[in-house]
Amino acid sequence: NCHLAISRGSLIVLEGLDRSGKSSQCSRLVSYLQEKGIPVEACRFPDRSTSVGQMISTYLANESELDDRTIHLLFSANRWEKRSLMETKLKNGISLIVDRYSYSGVAFSASKGLNIEWCKAPEEGLIAPDLVIYLEIAPEKAAERDGYGCERYEQLEFQRKVAQNYNLLRDSTWKVIDGCLSLETIESQVREQALECVSVCKKGKPLLNMWL
Ligand code: TYD
Ligand code: MG
Repeated sequence: NCHLAISRGSLIVLEGLDRSGKSSQCSRLVSYLQEKGIPVEACRFPDRSTSVGQMISTYLANESELDDRTIHLLFSANRWEKRSLMETKLKNGISLIVDRYSYSGVAFSASKGLNIEWCKAPEEGLIAPDLVIYLEIAPEKAAERDGYGCERYEQLEFQRKVAQNYNLLRDSTWKVIDGCLSLETIESQVREQALECVSVCKKGKPLLNMWL
């Protein structure tokens, strides 16, 4: 047996309401870690490139109707279909910066009135993030930012409920950052949290499954 010790990568998730700034911070963080020579890749959910992802994308564009539980399970399946690839990458020392994960899955579906425990159940057994960075922004502020598009959930009333449900999901892996700070200030706080996380994982923090 070959026991070459490759230290594992970190699973770092960014969460927040639509227009909270996740996507820009994800790509900035990936570039920063790359510059530091840390092996890292970006991913995002929904991953619209798969056939499940196509169904989700059509639904979000209001081009199809699906029962609330059905679309919930599709979002979850879209994470399950990436699980083994994610595990392989993490075990090979690659850190993953993920734009939305199970917390989005639960917070959005529960905002339609589905039971939160029911919503959490299909996420059980997915890889638990080492760090969740939540970009906190008032729903009203997010709505003022350049265009909600016309996707299904991009409406103020709904986003208010999503914010409340996110609050119910906070746990010890979460770091909350004020999404109204400047891009650069947020960026430096995100960097600091991420670097610390990467170093703790490198030192042998075990990889665990959801929910913690
Ligand atoms: P979003 O990250 O906004 O995609 P894009 O940047 O391409 O617009 O995700 C699309 C929407 O899907 C967003 O409103 C959140 C919602 N969503 C869920 O309802 N459940 C989930 O599991 C995920 C990952 C996202
Ligand atoms: Mg969006």
